[in-house]
Amino acid sequence: MKIVVLTGAGISAESGLSTFRDNNGLWENHRIEDVATPEAFARNPDLVHKFYNLRRANLKNVKPNPAHFALAEAEKKFNNFLLVTQNVDNLHERAGSRNLIHMHGELLGKKCTFCNKISRIDGKLCKELVCEFCGKAGGLRPDIVWFGEMPYEMERIYKELLQCNLFVSIGTSGSVYPAAGFVEIAKQAGARTVELNLEPGEQKSHFQESIYGKASDIVHDFFGNL
Ligand code: APR
Repeated sequence: MKIVVLTGAGISAESGLSTFRDNNGLWENHRIEDVATPEAFARNPDLVHKFYNLRRANLKNVKPNPAHFALAEAEKKFNNFLLVTQNVDNLHERAGSRNLIHMHGELLGKKCTFCNKISRIDGKLCKELVCEFCGKAGGLRPDIVWFGEMPYEMERIYKELLQCNLFVSIGTSGSVYPAAGFVEIAKQAGARTVELNLEPGEQKSHFQESIYGKASDIVHDFFGNL
């Protein structure tokens, strides 16, 4: 069986990371368009750096929850298992997931806008930092896919979706494309499609099955019974 799983902010909610759309449209007290667009970064790089520096530092205060561990277990149980996450935290890898795509980038990544090199960053990013690859200052940004930018590894993801037998969407509102459209692709390819979420997401009508509850309960149960 070939399985593709898509996760969103809901899987990390019980680890203490806030979701995007459950707080009056604010993400950690900021409007998305003030911190998660290339225009916001061009307008106010200090604010955007500060925002992601705080998110990155906060990773040390949070831990994977049973839903992250259940997916890492499932990867071991089923050998053809791809996990695609929209999350920029590192909780899936800390739980043990290995076949993992961070389609929206990673908090622990930085990208140089001059040479396009992507590398790790544990500490703070700022405007003045010099790229270790090209030696230029002022071009480093968080390795986050902002609104209006192309998510990572789309070719590979579409190929896997077109071949999968089971597509499971976990903890995502299904409101941001292209991820929101994955269920339709998997369905057209003949896969069983399942939504695991706290409440019906925007793509509810495209799923053959829906199970509602906390990710920490339902993810383990679903894969345990598979
Ligand atoms: N268990 C399961 N689901 C939960 C839980 C929980 N404990 N808590 C919240 N949820 C669900 C919510 O009901 C909601 O449907 O998780 C979903 C989170 O939705 P969003 O906040 O919209 O997050 P997500 O779908 O990941 O957002 C997609 O939008 O802002 C961009 O790039 C950002 O990757 C993000 C993308």
